[in-house]
Amino acid sequence: MTSIPKPDREIDRRRGEFPGLGDGIHLLSHSLGPVPRTARESMLAYLDRWRRHGSEDAWAEEWWTLSEEVGDRIARFLGGEPGTVQIQPNTSVALSTVASCLDYTKRNRIVITELDFPSTQYIWHEQKRIGAEIVAVPSEGGVVTPLEKILDAIDDRTALVAISHTSFLSSHRLDPVPIIEKAHARGARVLLDCYQSAGIVELKAAGWKVDFLIGGTIKWLCGGPACGYLYVRPGSIRDLEPRLTGWIAHADPFRFAPGAIEYAATVRRFAQGTPNIPGLYSCLPGLKLVEEVGLPNLWAESRRRTQWMVEFARERGWKLNSPADPARRGGSVMIGVKDGREMVRRLAERRVFVDARPNVGLRISPHFFNTDEEVQEGMETLARLKKG
Ligand SMILES: Cc1ncc(COP(=O)(O)O)c(C=O)c1O
Repeated sequence: MTSIPKPDREIDRRRGEFPGLGDGIHLLSHSLGPVPRTARESMLAYLDRWRRHGSEDAWAEEWWTLSEEVGDRIARFLGGEPGTVQIQPNTSVALSTVASCLDYTKRNRIVITELDFPSTQYIWHEQKRIGAEIVAVPSEGGVVTPLEKILDAIDDRTALVAISHTSFLSSHRLDPVPIIEKAHARGARVLLDCYQSAGIVELKAAGWKVDFLIGGTIKWLCGGPACGYLYVRPGSIRDLEPRLTGWIAHADPFRFAPGAIEYAATVRRFAQGTPNIPGLYSCLPGLKLVEEVGLPNLWAESRRRTQWMVEFARERGWKLNSPADPARRGGSVMIGVKDGREMVRRLAERRVFVDARPNVGLRISPHFFNTDEEVQEGMETLARLKKG
């Protein structure tokens, strides 16, 4: 097997920014990546700001505007304009907030896929109690959801197509454009779960005219647990009134007005209660780093290395549980093994950090901070263990 082909140009991997990289080979960016060095400073800044609260007003000085600042930074990774992203406690709450906007008496079908994250499935199935009908599109072999099957599932009864842009199970990345076009032509909306895409592949929220994007900052965006987000297409922000709400979503929260809510006219209408301030501090350093390295750079790096991993697996006749076509793959490569958990443990003993999921086996994800040598060593270690 040849080495990984050289890149067109070297990128600055910013390895000094991740102190944990000395512990071993981190190939876990689909889950929780290594902590950025500046995350410690950021968390200390949060504690210092809190300590000074009293002589200073932490909310007025910084905390009220932090959600907006982080939201606008995330919007850039999603291809959205400023003012389109509301920070959420996590992705599941972001999805529930969207679900709470729907009225199933008019249209009641929700299209999901078998390869979506469990939260998606759980949240939508519970909507059946208030009149929703779930159309779950099956996968082919647990790896790919055929586009035609998703398109066939959309009709005049569809309220929302709520699917993963990139699957957490197989890293299959859907082409959202035909889905959005068909859904809009039939009067339905589209929500994409971008947790496994944002920060590793290019997203075009505005260009696609997608209605909602949801996700969080833990994975490719190099944040800590947890900070979620919800993007809403600017043209429809004012048309939606989430039942899952709270005082921060009010047009003027500091009026502490009694009675029914008067929603904010901005994306803040999708907020609930007090924002998770430590979560915001913990994700800022990662967002800044990923922005500095630049999405086009890190996406090119990801394709170069994951394609080599795919070839490495194919040459050995391994079961590849991700699409071989880079145009249909996210940042991970899934490889079938007999006992995923056991293989994760044996790799970790050799300082190679990956994880496993049922049916698909190992999930392996290089990010910009990994060297080519690490990616190669990780795969060669797996090859030795698979043989032994
Ligand atoms: C694609 C996808 N969606 C949703 C989630 C869950 O997000 P949260 O825990 O923020 O609800 C994950 C987490 O791994 C994920 O990979």
